[in-house]
Amino acid sequence: MVKKVTVRTLRKLKESNEKFSVLTAYDYSTAKYLDEAGIDIILIGDSLAMVALGYETTNSIGTDEMAIFTKAVAKGAQRAMVVTDMPFMSYTIDIPSALTNIGNMVKLGANAVKLEGCNDYMLELIKRTTQMGVPVMSHIGFTPQSQNVIGGHIIQGKTQEAAEELLKQAKLLEDAGAFSIVLEMVPEECGKYITENLNIPTISCGAGRYCDAQVLVSDDVFGKFSDFKPKFARKYADMKSLILNAAKQFNEDVKSGKFPNEEEVF
Ligand code: KIV
Repeated sequence: MVKKVTVRTLRKLKESNEKFSVLTAYDYSTAKYLDEAGIDIILIGDSLAMVALGYETTNSIGTDEMAIFTKAVAKGAQRAMVVTDMPFMSYTIDIPSALTNIGNMVKLGANAVKLEGCNDYMLELIKRTTQMGVPVMSHIGFTPQSQNVIGGHIIQGKTQEAAEELLKQAKLLEDAGAFSIVLEMVPEECGKYITENLNIPTISCGAGRYCDAQVLVSDDVFGKFSDFKPKFARKYADMKSLILNAAKQFNEDVKSGKFPNEEEVF
């Protein structure tokens, strides 16, 4: 039997200074391949709103849609921890509705949830979610669900004061029970400073080389999403070209009568 990645696994990795990997997936077969490749955490990121559903921002996706993708990914992941990103407004109205929405994702197969932000309400929610039996991955720095309040995709933690404030938030989140923290779009020194001062692992999303883990959107990594590429993402494959070439070839073969051939018919 495969040994599942759990919060204990991640804690031990942090203690022994070993890095781990996080990629997003939104469907069954991608989740299976990421699992087979040894990716430690598979995140059903709300980035799926933009890269898989074509929405303009992540704020348009709802729990009903996240539920479908969570179910599919959970079926494909054997070893990797499956984390669902709770979408905009699904956890910020009040604690009871948040716990219901979070619990539903776990019923569908998520092993943990990701929640953006740090304020008194979020700290209470993280405590209650963890008490309910659901591990929480926090997310601070640039938090896309608050981009209208922030005023765009703006790098956070740039001054010493801002970095101190982020560290303060990170410590509060750790005390509230978060098992890890995504740091998005902060300078490398800020990512390093927070990582060195926490007991739980930090996950960099554009937070530099010194975090305990790195997360990227798989459609960026595989070169499938081509509308834009964040500076911190690295393209490891060119799926757009593969899909284009295969689709063009199929189109030609159908129209020229080369597909199907005699082995492809009953
Ligand atoms: O939505 C997402 O995919 C994310 C990660 C990139 C951290 O939040």
